[in-house]
Amino acid sequence: MADKIRIALIGCGGIARGHVKRLLEIPEAEIVSLVDTDPNCLASYKENFPELKDIPVFSDYRDALGADNLDAVHINTPHTLHFPQIMDSLDRGLHVLTEKPLVCSVKEAKEVIAAAEKAGKVLLISYQRHYAPDYVYIKNEIEKGTIGQVTAIAALQGQDWLRGQKGKWRQDPALSGGGQLNDSGSHLLDIMLWTTGLAIDKVNAYIDNRGADVDINSAVSIQFTSGAIGTITVIGDQPGWWEDYTVWGTEGAIFLRNGKVTFWVRGQEPYEPTDLPAGSNPDQNFIDVVLGRDTNKTPAICGLRGIELWVELEDAPSGGQVEQLGKTVELAEVLDVSRDGEHVTTLNPSRDYYSAVAADPNAPLQSFFEGETTSEVGRTEGFSRDLWSA
Ligand SMILES: NC(=O)c1ccc[n+]([C@@H]2O[C@H](COP(=O)([O-])OP(=O)(O)OC[C@H]3O[C@@H](n4cnc5c(N)ncnc54)[C@H](O)[C@@H]3O)[C@@H](O)[C@H]2O)c1
Repeated sequence: MADKIRIALIGCGGIARGHVKRLLEIPEAEIVSLVDTDPNCLASYKENFPELKDIPVFSDYRDALGADNLDAVHINTPHTLHFPQIMDSLDRGLHVLTEKPLVCSVKEAKEVIAAAEKAGKVLLISYQRHYAPDYVYIKNEIEKGTIGQVTAIAALQGQDWLRGQKGKWRQDPALSGGGQLNDSGSHLLDIMLWTTGLAIDKVNAYIDNRGADVDINSAVSIQFTSGAIGTITVIGDQPGWWEDYTVWGTEGAIFLRNGKVTFWVRGQEPYEPTDLPAGSNPDQNFIDVVLGRDTNKTPAICGLRGIELWVELEDAPSGGQVEQLGKTVELAEVLDVSRDGEHVTTLNPSRDYYSAVAADPNAPLQSFFEGETTSEVGRTEGFSRDLWSA
């Protein structure tokens, strides 16, 4: 391997700018090519990042993958493109950092995880909350038992997604693979499972498209195998950004409101912790993992867990049908465009994976998908979809 990890950036839109800035600060990282189907995006990157002005650009990522001087890719493209781009990159023997959501179905998620295993390459999903001081602190305190046994969780995120993304790929199911729940909601599903280590037993949801082609507002109810309960509320139709995460336990509660953490332990006054750990980011972790000096803090399994829950929501008891405006329609019509319809057989391998990784950070992933049983999985008990606007 060269002195530096040489990276092709696939997708040069909004989020990739942050990746470029962070990569430029990592001495062992080098961006060697840019890929985007939109020449204006490529030109804008060349203009805004003088460090990249002389590197080659490509409109087709497969041309970039053909270069000799490549160790890794960063994938920052619309969601349904992630799967072929990850697979082709791994096939070419490259390490992959991909933006969320990992891919758009359980089948695809298992395939990319197996392909990374087979290739012996790093596959890291860019869930930045795993590196954020507030969320890391919350996870650590839950593990330490500061609030006792987790009994309930509420995760909420809102933004002006309905208007802000109108006419863009995020509201085109063929490119997005789903709406706000699959997009920003993917972070909430992930942090809920990651910070608590809980496994999901049952879910149901009400989803409102607010007149769009994809889900905009969602109210998801969850029962965990431990008996704890939780809700995820994803609102794509509100004035601006808001993120709110609360975990209740037998001994207290943790409140995270737009970055401010408050603990309230039984018998004490609420307090704001001042000893939050230092933060990091997925780009630094990616380089460190490729160089063999750290473990993967956001392995692809985190992406699979989110997709499992998302697919579980689609598993309507009526055999894939829901009531929409008084008429029965195929669930796939309203929710599932790109997915393969494969149902989750169990959600527990992921939880087992976390236990195993705690014991052995290098535990192979593949074994957690073998011997799946349906005995531990709770089927969806109810699923309703009410549209407030036509
Ligand atoms: N982690 C986060 O908090 C976060 C935040 C925003 C976006 N994202 C994720 O980043 C990814 C990109 O989102 P974005 O906001 O940057 O979108 P964007 O629309 O700003 O950028 C996407 C880019 O991909 C390019 N593109 C489209 N098809 C392509 C192809 N076949 N090959 C190469 N490039 C192609 C587009 O031209 C565009 O420049 C998505 O997966 C999104 O969910 C993550």
